[in-house]
Amino acid sequence: MKFFADTAEIEEIAELAATGMVDGVTTNPSLIMKSGRDILEVTREICALVDGPVSAEVVSLEAAEMIAEGRKLAEIADNIAIKVPLTWDGLKACKTLTGEGRMVNVTLCFSANQALLAAKAGATFVSPFVGRLDDINLDGLELISDIRTIYDNYGFETQILAASIRAVNHISECALIGADVVTAPPAILKKMADHPLTDKGLDAFMRDWAKTGQRIL
Ligand code: E4P
Repeated sequence: MKFFADTAEIEEIAELAATGMVDGVTTNPSLIMKSGRDILEVTREICALVDGPVSAEVVSLEAAEMIAEGRKLAEIADNIAIKVPLTWDGLKACKTLTGEGRMVNVTLCFSANQALLAAKAGATFVSPFVGRLDDINLDGLELISDIRTIYDNYGFETQILAASIRAVNHISECALIGADVVTAPPAILKKMADHPLTDKGLDAFMRDWAKTGQRIL
């Protein structure tokens, strides 16, 4: 399973990239706004930090303009994945841009039918939003599971990129279901290593080690 960092904050990405755990990055217009940075500049810096796909989102609502924006974003670096919304215009743009050999991430997916359309449009990634479905009392993880079944039924190669991750259990559940990628805020990715029994066990080992009076180095 691949881990993408869902952020446009350079320091956060650099810190995580140093762990070797980050396979890519996703951004969106809200994350760019939060960073306070110019989209082209910050995206270029992110692409230099991470070898894997870096999703940069178009902001037009009409296919021809999305395609033009997507081509401009793709000029930033070879590892750009152009993010388009799951609308008919977005699907048209997806078809054209993937036909040009570019990576496309179809975002704002909230149903199995939408995911089916993204796959038929040749998307490299589809981004179902788990947390936003949970927020309205629907089951985001059930959607990931449904998409996995549908894609496997037909051999679609579009990668399921589980997005809108709000908690660490979303990540392990997505892994159990078979999502290809999960994108999560760095704070959540970091929490994956936490366990109270690890802390407790380490404390006990350190106390006992101190009693031996030994050193390894
Ligand atoms: C990623 O591609 C999405 O833009 C992101 O995961 C959305 O997360 P949110 O629902 O927490 O804003």
